[in-house]
Amino acid sequence: MDKVLIAPAPLAGIDAGFVHVLRDAGFELVYPNRGGQLSEDELLTFLGGVKAAVAGSEPYTAKVLEAHPQLRVVARAGVGYDAVDVDAATRLGMAVTIAPGTNEGSVAEHTFCLMLALAKRLVPQHLGVKAGGWPRGANLPLRGRTLGIAGLGRIGKAVAIRGHAFGMKLLAYDPVPDAAFAASHHVTLVPFERLAAESDYLTLHLPATKDSRHLIDRRTLSLMKPTAYLINTARGAVIHEPDLLDALRNKRIAGAGLDVFEEEPPGKHPLFELDNVVLTPHAAGVDVQSRDDMALSAAQAIVSLSRGEWPAEKVVNPEVRADFRW
Ligand code: MLT
Repeated sequence: MDKVLIAPAPLAGIDAGFVHVLRDAGFELVYPNRGGQLSEDELLTFLGGVKAAVAGSEPYTAKVLEAHPQLRVVARAGVGYDAVDVDAATRLGMAVTIAPGTNEGSVAEHTFCLMLALAKRLVPQHLGVKAGGWPRGANLPLRGRTLGIAGLGRIGKAVAIRGHAFGMKLLAYDPVPDAAFAASHHVTLVPFERLAAESDYLTLHLPATKDSRHLIDRRTLSLMKPTAYLINTARGAVIHEPDLLDALRNKRIAGAGLDVFEEEPPGKHPLFELDNVVLTPHAAGVDVQSRDDMALSAAQAIVSLSRGEWPAEKVVNPEVRADFRW
């Protein structure tokens, strides 16, 4: 019986569609015997004898993939694939798949969770009331303010739709913009510099690529309003963290809501000492609905590939198709 590793901790112990799809197709499901994100060493161990992995954010490095030539598919339960060395997978004839269309609603909701927490000073007010205080004061509105969306893909679009419902003015930057969506959804497309300069809330929805790496750095932070907030539910690599830290310490911008970090988990981080941040543990993409939808999509990709079918909309390295074997 072929084995599938179910690597993401949020999938442990749940009875959802992905379990049935894989079992009905004759697979044995293998779960890591620990919670949390697997390290490279742990992944090296847990991939032993496994034909496919339902993958979280653990590192599928060249070293890991080369050590497991029996592995045929890395199926991300998510849409970002920066934790997978796709070149190495391609060289080794392994398919890498993603789960498009499964988590944009969850990420968009979380983006507003962070934005609202900052605007409404949720954490200091909560802590203040619990401590016996009554820290009233004028909070900030979203309505009428400018929401800048960097990356107008599926997630950026889901954010735009919600931003419009909040009565926000919408600006967006995308290297390859969907002009038709923008025109029909009240979004003005602008160059990144203008986005940074005019946004009251600047939210990042770009994948981690060499082009987006450290897009937010000293220079781009210096373009932002001192009253602006930065939200990152995309990838830590899009921000140069030391520059952001500096900008937050010096009140160069008003604050930041961060779900992702350059290193995850971030360990003891100087950001933790600041009051003008709200931090969450790379949780934006995973609510109970998107968790099940992402895992089901990954499971279906694995089953399709095992049957010689080709889920083209999910495979990110189509070069392996000609020689792909199970
Ligand atoms: C994604 O890549 O889709 C998200 O970051 C979800 C995740 O990996 O948890």
